[in-house]
Amino acid sequence: MSEGLRYNVRAADEAGVRAAAKVLREGGLVAFPTETVYGLGADARNDRAVAAIFEAKGRPRFNPLIVHFRHLAAAAEETVFDSRARALAERFWPGPLSLVLPRAPGSRISLLCSAGLDTLAVRVPGHESAQALLNACALPIAAPSANLAGRISPTRAADVVAALGERVDLVLDGGPCPIGLESTVVDMSGAAPRLLRPGAVTREELEEELETLESGEAEGPLRAPGQLASHYAPEHPLLLDALRATQDQALLAFGPNPPRGAARTLNLSVSGDLREAAANLFAFLRALDEAPVSAIAVMPIPSYGLGAAINDRLARAAAPRDA
Ligand code: TXA
Ligand code: MG
Repeated sequence: MSEGLRYNVRAADEAGVRAAAKVLREGGLVAFPTETVYGLGADARNDRAVAAIFEAKGRPRFNPLIVHFRHLAAAAEETVFDSRARALAERFWPGPLSLVLPRAPGSRISLLCSAGLDTLAVRVPGHESAQALLNACALPIAAPSANLAGRISPTRAADVVAALGERVDLVLDGGPCPIGLESTVVDMSGAAPRLLRPGAVTREELEEELETLESGEAEGPLRAPGQLASHYAPEHPLLLDALRATQDQALLAFGPNPPRGAARTLNLSVSGDLREAAANLFAFLRALDEAPVSAIAVMPIPSYGLGAAINDRLARAAAPRDA
């Protein structure tokens, strides 16, 4: 891979992981693969390192960060788990689930990660390289997705390099992310559990563990500012639920029988497999966004299971934006 030649990109082998852990301990920024998307990581206890994440991404300070831990016990040192939160963690960790929990009274996690809230989003990733890095540095790692604020999340090391380049001290290349969509975020800090962001841990699976699960934003103060409508903005307008595409449009297809006639077509999954579609989504959106077309037409995707998360990201990518 050509980006492997860049001085700040290292393969996620033992030596690469060791080098990345050293960068983190010294307060630097490391982009690393997880099963969902690449994260832009820093020592979550180091205010200056966490501040550097916001600067590198151009991320507004009111948007809090997810902190990654080796295991449940490490996350439980910094946050308060009730029995429901513990049940979710035991079932879905390590994995693509983030829990918003009250901060523990003595927590040493930088307050910047909470962005003024009294909660912290925590997650134990399952990806081998992420686990190796967490073990090697023995730190909690604050990590948003490793893209510029408001842009599509990176699912390959090359996407990180294209977006952030030398703003990152080291990029660990562990290949493409197997899931390809950001983690499911569930707010467990209020009276009722609330699904703030759909993801690969599906609503259906969560409901097997929880009696109730509210949707979307709570009334009152913004709880997940990153969930603002226009968030995954490609350059071209997106036309959702399209059944045809004209010759000046690109087509993001799904299923065995896409319409003909588009300037360029990429098929998320010919067999109609939602996992395959999720893994391809961001890379295909990027690729079609580079085509000289007037818009990207997107075929309908079923809305059950992982399809809910895919449709959530597509709706955000299609939302009208300010600038
Ligand atoms: O899959 C993922 O979650 C990736 C990988 C790197 O772990 N990370 C990621 O982070 O997607 P980010 O920052 O791009 O998205 C985190 C989302 C944002 O919508 C943020 O507003 C929300 O989680 N969030 C973080 N802390 C929160 C908190 N204390 N309360 C409510 N929402 C929170
Ligand atoms: Mg993000």
